[in-house]
Amino acid sequence: MAVIAWKKIYETGIVALDNEHRALVAEVNRLYEAIRDKRGEEVLGDILTMLESYTVEHFQHEEKLMAEYQFPELEEHQRIHQELIDAVQELKKRVTSGREELAREFLKFLRVWVLEHILNVDKKYGAFLESRGGRFIS
Ligand SMILES: [Fe+2]
Repeated sequence: MAVIAWKKIYETGIVALDNEHRALVAEVNRLYEAIRDKRGEEVLGDILTMLESYTVEHFQHEEKLMAEYQFPELEEHQRIHQELIDAVQELKKRVTSGREELAREFLKFLRVWVLEHILNVDKKYGAFLESRGGRFIS
């Protein structure tokens, strides 16, 4: 597992949302670097707190734009977002015990979730919104 280098293939084509995705990937990388430097335990709590508000705001932003443009798979997309929100909540409950192992486990989960979500789920609305002239919506 290594730091995620941002690639063009991760772009949904919607500039404002791509910028938010870059920030999300930066958090995954921050966690990776902390674990590598044996500071995972120290940084995990911070990252979870940040993710708790960030994912909700980012997801609401995506969902608002999908709704505005009547993207047909909005409901399914919302359900998938809820999975990450639930996972973050669940982990926050466990993190009080603060173990390095938990940080590693979460990094593995988050890394796969974020990349898989952008590539397979977010890119669908990207193509849809972009085809309707939404590239620079915010
Ligand atoms: Fe999404």
